[in-house]
Amino acid sequence: MAELQRPAHAERAEARGTRSPEESPEDSSDEGIADTSSIDTRTTASLSSSIQEVSIEHGRKYHSYKDHSFYWRPNDNDELDRLDLIHMLVQLINDGQIHQAPIAKNPQGILDIGCGRGLWCIDMGDVYPSASVIGVDISPSQVTFVPPNVKFEIDDVEEEWTFRAPFDYIHGQYLMGAIRDWPRLLKQCFEYTRPGGWVEFQDFYPEYYSEDGSLPPDAKLHQWLRLGEQALNAFGRDMFPSTKIPDYARQAGYTNVKVIKKVLPIGTWPEDAAQKRIGHLNWVQLYEGLHGMSMRLLSNGLGWKYEEIEVLLSQVRKELKDPNIHAQMSYYIVYAQKP
Ligand SMILES: C[S@@+](CC[C@H](N)C(=O)[O-])C[C@H]1O[C@@H](n2cnc3c(N)ncnc32)[C@H](O)[C@@H]1O
Repeated sequence: MAELQRPAHAERAEARGTRSPEESPEDSSDEGIADTSSIDTRTTASLSSSIQEVSIEHGRKYHSYKDHSFYWRPNDNDELDRLDLIHMLVQLINDGQIHQAPIAKNPQGILDIGCGRGLWCIDMGDVYPSASVIGVDISPSQVTFVPPNVKFEIDDVEEEWTFRAPFDYIHGQYLMGAIRDWPRLLKQCFEYTRPGGWVEFQDFYPEYYSEDGSLPPDAKLHQWLRLGEQALNAFGRDMFPSTKIPDYARQAGYTNVKVIKKVLPIGTWPEDAAQKRIGHLNWVQLYEGLHGMSMRLLSNGLGWKYEEIEVLLSQVRKELKDPNIHAQMSYYIVYAQKP
Protein backbone atom coordinates (compact mmCIF):
# COMPACT_ATOMS: atom_id res chain seq x y z
CA MET A 1 0.00 0.00 0.00
CA ALA A 2 1.34 3.44 -0.88
CA GLU A 3 2.35 5.68 2.00
CA LEU A 4 -0.84 7.38 3.14
CA GLN A 5 -0.68 11.14 2.98
CA ARG A 6 -2.00 12.75 6.07
CA PRO A 7 -3.23 16.29 6.56
CA ALA A 8 -1.31 18.62 8.86
CA HIS A 9 -3.77 18.20 11.70
CA ALA A 10 -3.09 14.47 11.59
CA GLU A 11 0.22 14.96 13.32
CA ARG A 12 -1.52 16.71 16.20
CA ALA A 13 -3.89 13.80 16.65
CA GLU A 14 -1.03 11.31 16.64
CA ALA A 15 0.84 13.33 19.25
CA ARG A 16 -2.28 13.15 21.38
CA GLY A 17 -1.49 9.52 22.03
CA THR A 18 1.20 10.64 24.43
CA ARG A 19 -0.76 13.44 26.05
CA SER A 20 -1.80 12.98 29.63
CA PRO A 21 -5.53 13.06 30.31
CA GLU A 22 -5.17 16.07 32.60
CA GLU A 23 -3.63 18.24 29.90
CA SER A 24 -5.76 20.77 28.09
CA PRO A 25 -6.19 20.31 24.37
CA GLU A 26 -3.40 21.95 22.38
CA ASP A 27 -6.00 24.10 20.69
CA SER A 28 -7.03 25.64 23.95
CA SER A 29 -8.14 28.84 22.25
CA ASP A 30 -11.82 28.99 21.42
CA GLU A 31 -11.23 28.79 17.69
CA GLY A 32 -13.07 25.48 17.53
CA ILE A 33 -16.22 27.17 18.70
CA ALA A 34 -18.14 29.21 16.20
CA ASP A 35 -18.61 32.91 16.23
CA THR A 36 -22.30 32.60 16.95
CA SER A 37 -23.21 35.60 14.80
CA SER A 38 -24.39 33.19 12.08
CA ILE A 39 -26.57 31.35 14.55
CA ASP A 40 -30.18 32.22 15.09
CA THR A 41 -30.89 32.04 18.79
CA ARG A 42 -34.40 33.45 18.61
CA THR A 43 -35.92 30.07 19.28
CA THR A 44 -33.22 29.14 21.74
CA ALA A 45 -32.90 32.32 23.76
CA SER A 46 -32.34 30.53 27.03
CA LEU A 47 -29.35 28.78 25.54
CA SER A 48 -27.61 31.74 23.99
CA SER A 49 -25.32 32.47 26.93
CA SER A 50 -24.37 28.90 27.68
CA ILE A 51 -23.99 27.26 24.29
CA GLN A 52 -20.43 28.44 23.87
CA GLU A 53 -19.26 26.77 27.05
CA VAL A 54 -17.25 23.61 26.59
CA SER A 55 -16.49 20.66 28.74
CA ILE A 56 -12.93 19.30 28.62
CA GLU A 57 -12.24 15.62 29.20
CA HIS A 58 -9.17 13.61 28.25
CA GLY A 59 -7.70 16.61 26.48
CA ARG A 60 -10.74 16.95 24.19
CA LYS A 61 -13.48 19.57 24.06
CA TYR A 62 -17.13 18.57 24.16
CA HIS A 63 -20.41 20.45 23.81
CA SER A 64 -22.10 21.69 26.95
CA TYR A 65 -25.67 21.24 25.77
CA LYS A 66 -27.91 19.84 28.51
CA ASP A 67 -26.06 17.27 30.56
CA HIS A 68 -22.51 16.79 29.43
CA SER A 69 -22.76 13.15 28.49
CA PHE A 70 -25.61 13.91 26.12
CA TYR A 71 -23.45 13.49 23.01
CA TRP A 72 -20.13 11.73 22.99
CA ARG A 73 -18.05 12.95 20.06
CA PRO A 74 -15.86 16.00 20.71
CA ASN A 75 -16.48 19.35 19.00
CA ASP A 76 -12.89 20.64 18.98
CA ASN A 77 -10.75 21.55 16.01
CA ASP A 78 -9.47 18.04 15.43
CA GLU A 79 -13.02 16.71 15.19
CA LEU A 80 -14.17 19.62 13.03
CA ASP A 81 -11.23 19.05 10.67
CA ARG A 82 -12.30 15.43 10.47
CA LEU A 83 -15.88 16.44 9.65
CA ASP A 84 -14.53 18.70 6.86
CA LEU A 85 -12.68 15.71 5.48
CA ILE A 86 -15.80 13.57 5.74
CA HIS A 87 -17.66 16.24 3.78
CA MET A 88 -15.18 15.64 0.91
CA LEU A 89 -15.43 11.88 1.35
CA VAL A 90 -19.23 11.95 1.18
CA GLN A 91 -19.09 13.91 -2.07
CA LEU A 92 -16.80 11.26 -3.57
CA ILE A 93 -19.10 8.48 -2.36
CA ASN A 94 -22.02 10.31 -4.01
CA ASP A 95 -20.15 10.90 -7.29
CA GLY A 96 -20.10 14.63 -6.67
CA GLN A 97 -23.82 14.92 -5.79
CA ILE A 98 -24.85 16.59 -2.55
CA HIS A 99 -28.10 14.64 -2.29
CA GLN A 100 -29.67 11.61 -3.91
CA ALA A 101 -33.38 12.21 -3.35
CA PRO A 102 -34.96 13.64 -6.54
CA ILE A 103 -36.05 16.91 -4.93
CA ALA A 104 -37.92 19.61 -6.84
CA LYS A 105 -35.90 22.13 -8.88
CA ASN A 106 -36.85 25.12 -6.77
CA PRO A 107 -37.25 23.92 -3.19
CA GLN A 108 -38.36 26.50 -0.64
CA GLY A 109 -37.38 24.91 2.63
CA ILE A 110 -34.45 22.61 3.43
CA LEU A 111 -33.53 21.33 6.90
CA ASP A 112 -30.29 19.62 7.93
CA ILE A 113 -30.51 17.89 11.30
CA GLY A 114 -27.27 17.49 13.25
CA CYS A 115 -25.57 19.77 10.72
CA GLY A 116 -22.15 19.87 12.42
CA ARG A 117 -19.90 22.37 10.62
CA GLY A 118 -22.72 23.30 8.24
CA LEU A 119 -20.72 22.77 5.02
CA TRP A 120 -23.50 20.71 3.45
CA CYS A 121 -25.99 23.51 4.26
CA ILE A 122 -23.74 26.01 2.52
CA ASP A 123 -23.49 23.81 -0.58
CA MET A 124 -27.27 23.42 -0.64
CA GLY A 125 -27.75 27.16 -0.18
CA ASP A 126 -25.49 27.78 -3.20
CA VAL A 127 -27.07 25.14 -5.41
CA TYR A 128 -30.65 26.08 -4.46
CA PRO A 129 -30.85 29.87 -4.14
CA SER A 130 -34.66 29.53 -4.05
CA ALA A 131 -34.44 27.71 -0.72
CA SER A 132 -34.11 28.81 2.84
CA VAL A 133 -31.69 26.30 4.40
CA ILE A 134 -31.69 25.69 8.14
CA GLY A 135 -29.01 23.64 9.89
CA VAL A 136 -29.68 22.50 13.46
CA ASP A 137 -27.14 21.17 15.93
CA ILE A 138 -26.56 21.06 19.69
CA SER A 139 -23.04 22.45 19.19
CA PRO A 140 -22.29 25.96 17.90
CA SER A 141 -19.56 24.61 15.61
CA GLN A 142 -20.81 26.11 12.37
CA VAL A 143 -18.72 28.18 10.00
CA THR A 144 -19.32 31.91 10.20
CA PHE A 145 -19.57 33.06 6.59
CA VAL A 146 -22.64 31.60 4.98
CA PRO A 147 -24.84 32.43 1.98
CA PRO A 148 -27.76 34.72 2.88
CA ASN A 149 -30.25 31.87 2.50
CA VAL A 150 -28.51 29.69 5.13
CA LYS A 151 -28.92 29.94 8.88
CA PHE A 152 -28.10 27.78 11.85
CA GLU A 153 -30.00 27.06 15.02
CA ILE A 154 -28.81 25.45 18.22
CA ASP A 155 -31.33 22.91 19.38
CA ASP A 156 -31.93 19.27 20.16
CA VAL A 157 -33.59 17.67 17.15
CA GLU A 158 -35.17 15.09 19.44
CA GLU A 159 -37.20 17.80 21.17
CA GLU A 160 -40.48 19.10 19.73
CA TRP A 161 -39.74 21.15 16.61
CA THR A 162 -41.10 24.65 16.35
CA PHE A 163 -40.43 25.48 12.70
CA ARG A 164 -43.09 27.67 11.15
CA ALA A 165 -43.37 25.91 7.78
CA PRO A 166 -42.87 22.38 6.47
CA PHE A 167 -39.77 21.54 4.42
CA ASP A 168 -39.34 20.27 0.87
CA TYR A 169 -36.36 18.27 1.95
CA ILE A 170 -35.01 17.10 5.32
CA HIS A 171 -31.50 15.71 5.50
CA GLY A 172 -29.36 14.02 8.16
CA GLN A 173 -25.83 12.80 7.62
CA TYR A 174 -23.52 10.80 9.84
CA LEU A 175 -25.86 10.67 12.84
CA MET A 176 -25.06 7.08 13.86
CA GLY A 177 -24.80 6.92 17.61
CA ALA A 178 -26.31 10.40 17.98
CA ILE A 179 -30.06 9.77 18.07
CA ARG A 180 -31.92 8.05 20.91
CA ASP A 181 -35.30 7.57 19.28
CA TRP A 182 -35.08 7.10 15.52
CA PRO A 183 -38.76 6.11 14.99
CA ARG A 184 -39.86 9.30 16.76
CA LEU A 185 -37.37 11.39 14.76
CA LEU A 186 -38.73 9.96 11.51
CA LYS A 187 -42.29 10.75 12.63
CA GLN A 188 -41.26 14.31 13.37
CA CYS A 189 -39.54 14.56 9.98
CA PHE A 190 -42.73 13.31 8.34
CA GLU A 191 -44.83 15.89 10.15
CA TYR A 192 -42.50 18.64 8.89
CA THR A 193 -42.15 17.38 5.30
CA ARG A 194 -44.33 19.05 2.69
CA PRO A 195 -46.50 16.56 0.71
CA GLY A 196 -44.33 15.43 -2.21
CA GLY A 197 -41.18 16.38 -0.29
CA TRP A 198 -38.33 14.10 0.70
CA VAL A 199 -36.30 12.94 3.67
CA GLU A 200 -32.76 11.55 3.27
CA PHE A 201 -30.25 9.99 5.66
CA GLN A 202 -26.70 9.05 4.79
CA ASP A 203 -24.41 7.21 7.16
CA PHE A 204 -21.44 4.95 7.71
CA TYR A 205 -22.21 1.35 8.61
CA PRO A 206 -19.05 0.52 10.56
CA GLU A 207 -19.10 -3.27 10.41
CA TYR A 208 -15.53 -3.89 9.27
CA TYR A 209 -14.66 -6.87 7.06
CA SER A 210 -12.30 -8.03 4.34
CA GLU A 211 -13.13 -10.10 1.29
CA ASP A 212 -9.76 -11.84 1.25
CA GLY A 213 -9.67 -12.80 4.94
CA SER A 214 -6.89 -10.30 5.64
CA LEU A 215 -8.86 -8.78 8.54
CA PRO A 216 -8.89 -11.65 11.05
CA PRO A 217 -11.90 -12.33 13.32
CA ASP A 218 -9.74 -11.52 16.37
CA ALA A 219 -8.64 -8.12 14.97
CA LYS A 220 -8.37 -5.30 17.50
CA LEU A 221 -10.49 -3.24 15.12
CA HIS A 222 -13.36 -5.64 15.78
CA GLN A 223 -12.77 -5.53 19.53
CA TRP A 224 -12.75 -1.72 19.46
CA LEU A 225 -15.97 -1.67 17.44
CA ARG A 226 -17.80 -4.10 19.73
CA LEU A 227 -16.75 -2.11 22.81
CA GLY A 228 -17.98 1.08 21.16
CA GLU A 229 -21.28 -0.61 20.33
CA GLN A 230 -21.65 -1.82 23.91
CA ALA A 231 -20.94 1.65 25.27
CA LEU A 232 -23.32 3.30 22.81
CA ASN A 233 -26.04 0.88 23.83
CA ALA A 234 -25.38 1.90 27.43
CA PHE A 235 -26.00 5.49 26.30
CA GLY A 236 -29.24 4.34 24.61
CA ARG A 237 -27.87 4.96 21.10
CA ASP A 238 -27.69 2.73 18.02
CA MET A 239 -24.44 2.27 16.11
CA PHE A 240 -26.21 0.79 13.08
CA PRO A 241 -29.40 2.77 12.43
CA SER A 242 -29.03 2.81 8.62
CA THR A 243 -30.57 -0.57 7.92
CA LYS A 244 -33.54 0.20 10.19
CA ILE A 245 -34.29 3.67 8.84
CA PRO A 246 -36.22 2.35 5.80
CA ASP A 247 -38.73 0.67 8.14
CA TYR A 248 -38.88 3.68 10.45
CA ALA A 249 -39.60 5.84 7.38
CA ARG A 250 -42.40 3.55 6.20
CA GLN A 251 -43.89 3.41 9.71
CA ALA A 252 -43.86 7.21 9.81
CA GLY A 253 -45.88 7.33 6.56
CA TYR A 254 -43.22 7.87 3.89
CA THR A 255 -43.42 6.00 0.60
CA ASN A 256 -41.02 5.51 -2.34
CA VAL A 257 -38.34 4.38 0.10
CA LYS A 258 -35.04 3.86 -1.68
CA VAL A 259 -31.85 2.35 -0.23
CA ILE A 260 -28.40 2.64 -1.82
CA LYS A 261 -25.57 0.66 -0.27
CA LYS A 262 -21.97 1.56 -1.06
CA VAL A 263 -18.80 -0.31 -0.16
CA LEU A 264 -16.09 1.85 1.39
CA PRO A 265 -12.51 0.57 1.42
CA ILE A 266 -10.34 1.57 4.36
CA GLY A 267 -6.91 2.44 2.96
CA THR A 268 -5.34 2.85 -0.45
CA TRP A 269 -5.30 -0.85 -1.27
CA PRO A 270 -7.96 -0.90 -4.06
CA GLU A 271 -6.63 -0.95 -7.65
CA ASP A 272 -9.40 1.27 -8.93
CA ALA A 273 -8.36 4.94 -8.75
CA ALA A 274 -11.74 6.25 -7.51
CA GLN A 275 -11.98 3.57 -4.82
CA LYS A 276 -8.37 4.22 -3.83
CA ARG A 277 -9.19 7.90 -3.27
CA ILE A 278 -12.28 7.04 -1.24
CA GLY A 279 -10.27 4.49 0.72
CA HIS A 280 -7.59 7.04 1.44
CA LEU A 281 -9.99 9.64 2.87
CA ASN A 282 -11.90 6.96 4.73
CA TRP A 283 -8.68 5.69 6.29
CA VAL A 284 -7.70 9.19 7.40
CA GLN A 285 -11.10 9.98 8.92
CA LEU A 286 -11.11 6.67 10.82
CA TYR A 287 -7.51 6.92 11.96
CA GLU A 288 -7.96 10.52 13.06
CA GLY A 289 -11.32 9.77 14.65
CA LEU A 290 -10.16 6.89 16.85
CA HIS A 291 -9.31 9.03 19.85
CA GLY A 292 -12.39 11.26 19.74
CA MET A 293 -14.73 8.36 19.10
CA SER A 294 -13.33 6.37 22.01
CA MET A 295 -12.57 8.55 24.99
CA ARG A 296 -15.96 9.61 26.27
CA LEU A 297 -17.65 6.44 25.08
CA LEU A 298 -15.30 3.92 26.62
CA SER A 299 -14.54 5.88 29.79
CA ASN A 300 -18.04 7.12 30.65
CA GLY A 301 -19.89 4.23 29.00
CA LEU A 302 -17.77 1.28 30.12
CA GLY A 303 -15.57 2.70 32.87
CA TRP A 304 -12.30 2.16 31.02
CA LYS A 305 -9.26 4.13 32.16
CA TYR A 306 -7.57 6.59 29.81
CA GLU A 307 -4.41 4.47 29.70
CA GLU A 308 -6.37 1.29 28.88
CA ILE A 309 -8.10 3.04 26.01
CA GLU A 310 -4.78 4.34 24.68
CA VAL A 311 -3.29 0.84 24.68
CA LEU A 312 -6.24 -0.50 22.68
CA LEU A 313 -6.08 2.44 20.28
CA SER A 314 -2.37 1.94 19.64
CA GLN A 315 -3.13 -1.69 18.69
CA VAL A 316 -5.93 -0.57 16.38
CA ARG A 317 -3.64 2.06 14.80
CA LYS A 318 -1.05 -0.64 14.16
CA GLU A 319 -3.62 -2.74 12.30
CA LEU A 320 -4.84 0.23 10.31
CA LYS A 321 -1.26 0.86 9.18
CA ASP A 322 -0.76 -2.75 8.09
CA PRO A 323 -0.73 -2.74 4.26
CA ASN A 324 -1.64 -6.43 4.18
CA ILE A 325 -5.03 -5.80 5.75
CA HIS A 326 -7.67 -4.92 3.15
CA ALA A 327 -10.48 -3.78 5.40
CA GLN A 328 -13.72 -2.28 4.21
CA MET A 329 -17.11 -1.20 5.51
CA SER A 330 -20.45 -0.02 4.13
CA TYR A 331 -22.20 3.30 3.68
CA TYR A 332 -25.96 3.70 3.34
CA ILE A 333 -28.05 6.30 1.58
CA VAL A 334 -31.75 6.11 2.38
CA TYR A 335 -34.39 8.46 1.03
CA ALA A 336 -38.16 8.50 1.04
CA GLN A 337 -41.08 10.66 -0.06
CA LYS A 338 -44.10 12.00 1.75
CA PRO A 339 -47.21 11.16 -0.33
C1 LIG B 1 -20.85 13.05 13.45
S1 LIG B 1 -21.47 14.66 13.48
C2 LIG B 1 -22.04 14.86 11.80
C3 LIG B 1 -22.22 16.30 11.44
C4 LIG B 1 -22.67 16.56 10.00
N1 LIG B 1 -24.01 16.04 9.75
C5 LIG B 1 -21.67 16.01 9.04
O1 LIG B 1 -22.02 15.08 8.31
O2 LIG B 1 -20.55 16.51 9.01
C6 LIG B 1 -23.00 14.50 14.36
C7 LIG B 1 -23.57 15.83 14.74
O3 LIG B 1 -24.85 15.64 15.36
C8 LIG B 1 -24.98 16.59 16.40
N2 LIG B 1 -26.01 16.10 17.32
C9 LIG B 1 -25.95 15.00 18.12
N3 LIG B 1 -27.10 14.84 18.78
C10 LIG B 1 -27.91 15.86 18.39
C11 LIG B 1 -29.23 16.26 18.73
N4 LIG B 1 -29.98 15.55 19.59
N5 LIG B 1 -29.74 17.37 18.16
C12 LIG B 1 -29.02 18.08 17.29
N6 LIG B 1 -27.76 17.76 16.92
C13 LIG B 1 -27.22 16.66 17.45
C14 LIG B 1 -23.59 16.66 17.00
O4 LIG B 1 -23.38 17.84 17.73
C15 LIG B 1 -22.72 16.59 15.74
O5 LIG B 1 -22.43 17.87 15.24
